Amino acid sequence: MTDLSTTIAGVRFPSCFMNAAGALCVTRDELVALGKSAAGAIVTKSMTVEPRQGNPEPRYYGFPGGSINSMGLPNLGYKAYAELIPELKRFGKPVVASVAGLCEEDFPTIAAAINAAQPDLIEVNLSCPNIPGKPQIGYDPESSERVIKRVRQIITVPMGLKLPPYFDPAHHEAMGKVIGRYGIDFLNMINSVGNGLVVDPEREAVVIKPKGGFGGLGGRLIKPVALANVRAFYKIFQGRIPIIGTGGVMDGVDAFEHLLCGASAIQVGTVLVEEGLDVFGRLDKELAGILARKGYRSVAECRGMVKEL
Ligand code: SIN
Repeated sequence: MTDLSTTIAGVRFPSCFMNAAGALCVTRDELVALGKSAAGAIVTKSMTVEPRQGNPEPRYYGFPGGSINSMGLPNLGYKAYAELIPELKRFGKPVVASVAGLCEEDFPTIAAAINAAQPDLIEVNLSCPNIPGKPQIGYDPESSERVIKRVRQIITVPMGLKLPPYFDPAHHEAMGKVIGRYGIDFLNMINSVGNGLVVDPEREAVVIKPKGGFGGLGGRLIKPVALANVRAFYKIFQGRIPIIGTGGVMDGVDAFEHLLCGASAIQVGTVLVEEGLDVFGRLDKELAGILARKGYRSVAECRGMVKEL
């Protein structure tokens, strides 16, 4: 029997697959449905201080290679999620609260209230690309450090960071240095590849409304970028900080590649939105099949095992 469970910062996940923050996890009904599904955890939408409707529609578009979105953090506001956490914990799987903010000041405010509600883990989102006029904090090591320093003093449950994709080893190293100073319990990478542009040639138009059509890319086309980031940070920390691999996972083989590169768990966004909650059963089955075929008995056994030539 192949063991698909995983452990992150001492917290056991019954399956290594879970939703990415943003995918089917905004409302109470969606979160409860995740609780009842085969997902290995319930991850909340990244929350802000005030409830938000998000950006104008259309703001999500799926195409054969992937997806583009500019949701703009639609969410219920942190107070609503803090109230929901005790109910969500009854499903017997970890609850991961995703904390965002529209400015640096927001992060400690939300972190304090959410930490008091005691989710199993807190993910601090430094990488939303879709708020007009707000750069991604994760691309600025100094701003990232200010946020991390403040929330680190507040958060007592295992705390992780959701990072944007980096495209140069110098950027991996710069963020690695910041992360290494604050006892971060886990990392999650990558958020969508920000500010892509998809054009419909028939309509001679962009496909989403916010930001003139610019939005975060997800799905199959971003997998190599996600794998590169997982691998880079796995090597920087020599496997000591568990990584949730997110980006481009459409099937069990994609997940296996993330594990080989160093991921301990997998989040899915585009494929969950496209296929619905049944995707978790399919992914479990496909990953179990490939692990068994390759002679691995568990997720842990193949973590980081990719060979370099
Ligand atoms: C969004 O709500 O725009 C996406 C959130 C994110 O990318 O962090």
